[in-house]
Amino acid sequence: MAIEIPRSARIYVAGHRGLVGSAIVRRLRAEGFENLLTAPRSELDLRDQSDVNDWFRRHRPEYVFLVAGTVGGILANSTRPAEFIYDNLMIHATVVDAARLHGVRRLLYLGSSCIYPRECPQPIREEYLLTGLLEPTNEPYAIAKISGIKLCQAYRRQYGCDFISAMPTNLYGPHDNFDLQSSHVLPALVRKFHDARAEGRDEVTVWAPAPPGASSCTWTTSPTPASS
Ligand SMILES: NC(=O)c1ccc[n+]([C@@H]2O[C@H](COP(=O)([O-])OP(=O)(O)OC[C@H]3O[C@@H](n4cnc5c(N)ncnc54)[C@H](OP(=O)(O)O)[C@@H]3O)[C@@H](O)[C@H]2O)c1
Repeated sequence: MAIEIPRSARIYVAGHRGLVGSAIVRRLRAEGFENLLTAPRSELDLRDQSDVNDWFRRHRPEYVFLVAGTVGGILANSTRPAEFIYDNLMIHATVVDAARLHGVRRLLYLGSSCIYPRECPQPIREEYLLTGLLEPTNEPYAIAKISGIKLCQAYRRQYGCDFISAMPTNLYGPHDNFDLQSSHVLPALVRKFHDARAEGRDEVTVWAPAPPGASSCTWTTSPTPASS
């Protein structure tokens, strides 16, 4: 259901420096929303419930975009699974509960397409959630994201909170993370092909840590095959 948010509403964008958060801030400003609330991580660690409650008490947001989280690609998910599950579980829990406590009118939480089973029929439909095993490399992250969706549903059912979730697929754009150790596949490919062109290389290694017995995947960047 579409709702009209008054231009003067106090809108909190949690994660405003990130890829999604910065895009939301740009769009809201362009649409004439002037009362935007943001807090850098150095000022407010969203994993800390009492700090989050205190921040909500002082700033009284009416609408919340919950787009903060520990986010990354295959390598980051594989090597930092504890951070991916702990940080995301905590961030959703603190912000959703503070939003209820302080009477937030509507909250949007972002899940991710990786919450669906690895062998999900295509195209993915909402009802496929929790019908099969997850992709193992990002299972901790996916479980945290599923818990965030269920958290919003539970707060709606028990407390009548207007908290909703949306599931984006892979995203990329301005202010993305282009770090090759932690980025998602799309920004990593953009970075690798950009660097190859800038350095005059005609090959790009798409994925370096090859499994035992297999070679990594190499693409040519020019229309003609590489000579080596
Ligand atoms: N990117 C994608 O392809 C994609 C796909 C599907 C779903 N999503 C979802 O979309 C949301 C946003 O993703 P994104 O790609 O925009 O991520 P991002 O660029 O990494 O931004 C994450 C934001 O969260 C903030 N943050 C992280 N931990 C925090 C903490 N403990 N306290 C306060 N702030 C914290 C970061 O602050 P700093 O700037 O200080 O680091 C950053 O502003 C996430 O929920 C993600 O699951 C993303």
